[in-house]
Amino acid sequence: MPIFDTHAHYDDEAFDADRTAVLEHQKQNGVEFILNCCASLESLTRVPQLAHEQDFMYFAAGLHPENLEGADDSALQRIASLLQDPKCLAVGEIGLDYYWNASPKEVQIEWFRRQTVLAKQHGLPIVVHDREAHGDTVAVLRELRPRGVLHAFSGSAEMAKEVLAMGMYLGIGGAFTFKNNKKAPEVLAVTPLERMLLETDCPYLSPVPLRGKRNESRNILHVAELIAAHKSVGLQEVLDVTAQNARNLFGF
Ligand code: NI
Repeated sequence: MPIFDTHAHYDDEAFDADRTAVLEHQKQNGVEFILNCCASLESLTRVPQLAHEQDFMYFAAGLHPENLEGADDSALQRIASLLQDPKCLAVGEIGLDYYWNASPKEVQIEWFRRQTVLAKQHGLPIVVHDREAHGDTVAVLRELRPRGVLHAFSGSAEMAKEVLAMGMYLGIGGAFTFKNNKKAPEVLAVTPLERMLLETDCPYLSPVPLRGKRNESRNILHVAELIAAHKSVGLQEVLDVTAQNARNLFGF
Protein backbone atom coordinates (compact mmCIF):
# COMPACT_ATOMS: atom_id res chain seq x y z
CA MET A 1 0.00 0.00 0.00
CA PRO A 2 1.59 3.28 -1.09
CA ILE A 3 1.86 5.96 1.59
CA PHE A 4 2.35 9.47 0.21
CA ASP A 5 3.14 12.10 2.82
CA THR A 6 2.55 15.48 1.19
CA HIS A 7 3.67 17.60 4.14
CA ALA A 8 6.58 16.84 6.45
CA HIS A 9 9.42 18.58 8.30
CA TYR A 10 12.12 15.92 8.63
CA ASP A 11 14.74 18.66 8.90
CA ASP A 12 13.23 19.51 12.32
CA GLU A 13 15.55 19.10 15.30
CA ALA A 14 13.15 16.50 16.71
CA PHE A 15 14.78 14.11 14.20
CA ASP A 16 18.40 15.14 14.80
CA ALA A 17 19.26 12.06 16.87
CA ASP A 18 17.94 9.39 14.48
CA ARG A 19 16.86 11.00 11.19
CA THR A 20 18.49 8.46 8.86
CA ALA A 21 17.06 5.51 10.79
CA VAL A 22 13.57 7.05 10.91
CA LEU A 23 13.56 7.66 7.17
CA GLU A 24 14.78 4.14 6.46
CA HIS A 25 12.00 2.85 8.70
CA GLN A 26 9.43 4.80 6.65
CA LYS A 27 10.77 3.30 3.45
CA GLN A 28 10.53 -0.22 4.91
CA ASN A 29 6.91 0.45 5.90
CA GLY A 30 5.35 1.47 2.62
CA VAL A 31 6.18 5.18 2.44
CA GLU A 32 6.92 5.94 -1.22
CA PHE A 33 6.84 9.72 -1.30
CA ILE A 34 7.58 12.56 1.10
CA LEU A 35 7.22 16.26 0.37
CA ASN A 36 9.39 18.00 2.94
CA CYS A 37 8.41 21.64 3.37
CA CYS A 38 10.68 24.57 4.07
CA ALA A 39 9.56 26.94 6.79
CA SER A 40 12.43 29.20 7.89
CA LEU A 41 15.33 30.96 6.19
CA GLU A 42 17.70 28.30 7.59
CA SER A 43 15.54 25.51 6.21
CA LEU A 44 16.05 26.87 2.67
CA THR A 45 19.50 25.29 2.94
CA ARG A 46 18.81 22.18 5.01
CA VAL A 47 15.63 20.99 3.28
CA PRO A 48 17.03 20.78 -0.28
CA GLN A 49 20.15 19.00 1.04
CA LEU A 50 18.07 16.38 2.80
CA ALA A 51 15.88 15.84 -0.27
CA HIS A 52 18.99 15.16 -2.35
CA GLU A 53 20.13 12.50 0.13
CA GLN A 54 16.83 10.60 -0.02
CA ASP A 55 15.49 9.24 -3.29
CA PHE A 56 11.86 9.22 -2.08
CA MET A 57 11.96 12.77 -0.72
CA TYR A 58 11.08 15.96 -2.60
CA PHE A 59 10.70 19.47 -1.23
CA ALA A 60 8.71 22.68 -1.25
CA ALA A 61 10.60 25.99 -0.97
CA GLY A 62 9.13 28.96 0.85
CA LEU A 63 8.81 30.98 4.01
CA HIS A 64 6.23 30.18 6.69
CA PRO A 65 4.29 33.17 8.09
CA GLU A 66 5.83 32.55 11.54
CA ASN A 67 9.34 33.06 10.14
CA LEU A 68 9.24 36.27 8.14
CA GLU A 69 11.51 38.28 10.43
CA GLY A 70 14.68 39.13 8.55
CA ALA A 71 13.20 38.09 5.21
CA ASP A 72 14.02 40.49 2.39
CA ASP A 73 14.22 40.51 -1.40
CA SER A 74 17.30 38.28 -1.33
CA ALA A 75 15.23 35.61 0.48
CA LEU A 76 12.67 35.72 -2.31
CA GLN A 77 15.49 35.38 -4.85
CA ARG A 78 16.83 32.36 -2.98
CA ILE A 79 13.41 30.74 -3.10
CA ALA A 80 13.16 31.53 -6.81
CA SER A 81 16.51 29.87 -7.50
CA LEU A 82 15.47 26.76 -5.51
CA LEU A 83 12.43 26.40 -7.77
CA GLN A 84 14.82 25.39 -10.58
CA ASP A 85 15.85 22.31 -8.60
CA PRO A 86 14.27 19.15 -10.11
CA LYS A 87 13.47 17.93 -6.59
CA CYS A 88 11.48 21.09 -5.80
CA LEU A 89 7.80 20.44 -6.56
CA ALA A 90 6.04 23.40 -4.91
CA VAL A 91 6.29 26.74 -3.13
CA GLY A 92 5.61 26.24 0.58
CA GLU A 93 4.82 26.33 3.18
CA ILE A 94 3.42 29.82 2.84
CA GLY A 95 0.33 31.55 4.11
CA LEU A 96 -1.14 33.32 7.11
CA ASP A 97 -0.98 32.60 10.84
CA TYR A 98 -3.19 34.87 12.94
CA TYR A 99 -2.86 32.57 15.95
CA TRP A 100 0.82 33.32 16.59
CA ASN A 101 0.85 36.64 14.68
CA ALA A 102 4.65 36.58 14.62
CA SER A 103 4.59 39.37 12.03
CA PRO A 104 1.98 42.06 11.33
CA LYS A 105 -0.92 40.88 9.16
CA GLU A 106 0.04 43.22 6.31
CA VAL A 107 3.53 41.70 6.21
CA GLN A 108 2.13 38.16 6.22
CA ILE A 109 -0.30 38.95 3.41
CA GLU A 110 2.42 40.62 1.37
CA TRP A 111 4.70 37.55 1.65
CA PHE A 112 1.85 35.17 0.94
CA ARG A 113 1.01 37.13 -2.21
CA ARG A 114 4.62 37.49 -3.40
CA GLN A 115 5.36 33.79 -2.96
CA THR A 116 2.09 32.80 -4.62
CA VAL A 117 2.87 35.01 -7.63
CA LEU A 118 6.34 33.42 -7.76
CA ALA A 119 4.80 29.94 -7.81
CA LYS A 120 2.50 30.89 -10.65
CA GLN A 121 5.41 32.35 -12.64
CA HIS A 122 7.18 28.99 -12.31
CA GLY A 123 4.08 26.92 -13.00
CA LEU A 124 4.24 25.33 -9.54
CA PRO A 125 1.53 24.67 -6.93
CA ILE A 126 1.58 26.21 -3.46
CA VAL A 127 1.38 24.56 -0.03
CA VAL A 128 -0.74 26.84 2.16
CA HIS A 129 -0.61 27.29 5.92
CA ASP A 130 -3.82 28.92 7.24
CA ARG A 131 -4.25 29.19 10.98
CA GLU A 132 -7.17 31.32 12.15
CA ALA A 133 -6.85 33.37 8.97
CA HIS A 134 -9.54 31.79 6.80
CA GLY A 135 -11.08 34.98 5.40
CA ASP A 136 -7.83 36.56 4.27
CA THR A 137 -6.49 33.23 2.98
CA VAL A 138 -9.53 32.74 0.76
CA ALA A 139 -9.28 36.37 -0.40
CA VAL A 140 -5.70 35.88 -1.61
CA LEU A 141 -6.59 32.58 -3.31
CA ARG A 142 -9.62 34.15 -4.96
CA GLU A 143 -7.51 37.02 -6.25
CA LEU A 144 -4.47 35.08 -7.49
CA ARG A 145 -6.03 31.71 -8.38
CA PRO A 146 -3.01 29.46 -7.81
CA ARG A 147 -2.99 25.67 -7.92
CA GLY A 148 -2.24 24.05 -4.60
CA VAL A 149 -3.25 22.50 -1.31
CA LEU A 150 -4.59 23.93 1.94
CA HIS A 151 -2.37 22.02 4.30
CA ALA A 152 -3.88 20.80 7.61
CA PHE A 153 -7.21 22.18 6.49
CA SER A 154 -9.01 23.71 9.49
CA GLY A 155 -11.82 25.66 7.88
CA SER A 156 -15.53 24.95 7.79
CA ALA A 157 -17.40 22.81 5.28
CA GLU A 158 -18.51 26.06 3.62
CA MET A 159 -14.91 27.18 3.19
CA ALA A 160 -13.98 23.72 1.91
CA LYS A 161 -16.64 24.00 -0.79
CA GLU A 162 -15.39 27.42 -1.79
CA VAL A 163 -11.71 26.45 -2.14
CA LEU A 164 -12.59 23.13 -3.81
CA ALA A 165 -14.54 25.13 -6.40
CA MET A 166 -11.30 27.04 -7.10
CA GLY A 167 -9.58 23.73 -7.83
CA MET A 168 -7.60 23.51 -4.59
CA TYR A 169 -6.84 20.27 -2.74
CA LEU A 170 -7.31 19.79 1.01
CA GLY A 171 -4.49 18.39 3.16
CA ILE A 172 -5.91 15.88 5.63
CA GLY A 173 -3.75 14.90 8.60
CA GLY A 174 -3.76 13.95 12.25
CA ALA A 175 -6.01 16.80 13.39
CA PHE A 176 -8.93 15.11 11.60
CA THR A 177 -8.69 12.23 14.07
CA PHE A 178 -8.95 14.46 17.14
CA LYS A 179 -12.23 13.99 18.97
CA ASN A 180 -12.58 17.73 19.62
CA ASN A 181 -12.37 18.51 15.89
CA LYS A 182 -16.07 19.16 15.39
CA LYS A 183 -15.72 20.35 11.79
CA ALA A 184 -13.86 17.27 10.54
CA PRO A 185 -16.87 15.04 9.71
CA GLU A 186 -18.63 17.77 7.69
CA VAL A 187 -15.44 18.71 5.84
CA LEU A 188 -14.81 15.05 4.95
CA ALA A 189 -18.41 14.76 3.78
CA VAL A 190 -18.20 17.65 1.28
CA THR A 191 -14.70 16.80 0.00
CA PRO A 192 -14.40 14.17 -2.74
CA LEU A 193 -11.62 11.63 -2.22
CA GLU A 194 -10.17 12.88 -5.53
CA ARG A 195 -9.36 16.22 -3.88
CA MET A 196 -7.76 14.99 -0.66
CA LEU A 197 -4.05 14.75 0.04
CA LEU A 198 -2.71 12.80 3.02
CA GLU A 199 -0.09 14.46 5.18
CA THR A 200 1.59 14.35 8.58
CA ASP A 201 3.16 17.77 9.31
CA CYS A 202 5.60 15.57 11.24
CA PRO A 203 7.08 15.83 13.83
CA TYR A 204 3.78 17.53 14.77
CA LEU A 205 0.09 16.54 14.75
CA SER A 206 0.29 12.80 15.42
CA PRO A 207 -3.09 11.16 14.81
CA VAL A 208 -5.12 9.36 17.47
CA PRO A 209 -4.08 6.92 19.03
CA LEU A 210 -0.55 8.38 18.88
CA ARG A 211 -1.50 11.97 19.75
CA GLY A 212 1.30 13.82 21.54
CA LYS A 213 4.06 11.53 20.29
CA ARG A 214 6.55 12.45 17.58
CA ASN A 215 4.81 11.97 14.26
CA GLU A 216 6.17 10.14 11.19
CA SER A 217 4.90 9.40 7.69
CA ARG A 218 3.67 5.83 8.20
CA ASN A 219 1.21 7.10 10.85
CA ILE A 220 -0.82 8.38 7.89
CA LEU A 221 -2.47 4.95 7.90
CA HIS A 222 -4.55 6.07 10.89
CA VAL A 223 -5.81 9.07 8.91
CA ALA A 224 -6.45 6.94 5.82
CA GLU A 225 -8.49 4.51 7.92
CA LEU A 226 -10.65 7.37 9.19
CA ILE A 227 -11.29 8.58 5.63
CA ALA A 228 -12.04 5.03 4.46
CA ALA A 229 -14.68 4.69 7.19
CA HIS A 230 -16.23 8.08 6.33
CA LYS A 231 -16.35 7.39 2.61
CA SER A 232 -17.28 3.70 2.97
CA VAL A 233 -14.40 2.59 0.76
CA GLY A 234 -11.40 0.36 1.38
CA LEU A 235 -8.10 1.54 2.83
CA GLN A 236 -6.35 0.54 -0.39
CA GLU A 237 -8.60 2.81 -2.44
CA VAL A 238 -7.96 5.79 -0.13
CA LEU A 239 -4.18 5.30 -0.43
CA ASP A 240 -4.26 4.74 -4.20
CA VAL A 241 -6.51 7.68 -5.01
CA THR A 242 -4.73 10.14 -2.73
CA ALA A 243 -1.36 9.02 -4.13
CA GLN A 244 -2.63 9.76 -7.63
CA ASN A 245 -3.91 13.15 -6.38
CA ALA A 246 -0.39 13.97 -5.20
CA ARG A 247 1.03 13.00 -8.59
CA ASN A 248 -1.57 15.15 -10.35
CA LEU A 249 -0.93 18.23 -8.23
CA PHE A 250 2.84 18.04 -7.87
CA GLY A 251 3.51 16.64 -11.32
CA PHE A 252 5.95 13.79 -10.72
NI1 NI B 1 4.11 22.33 8.29
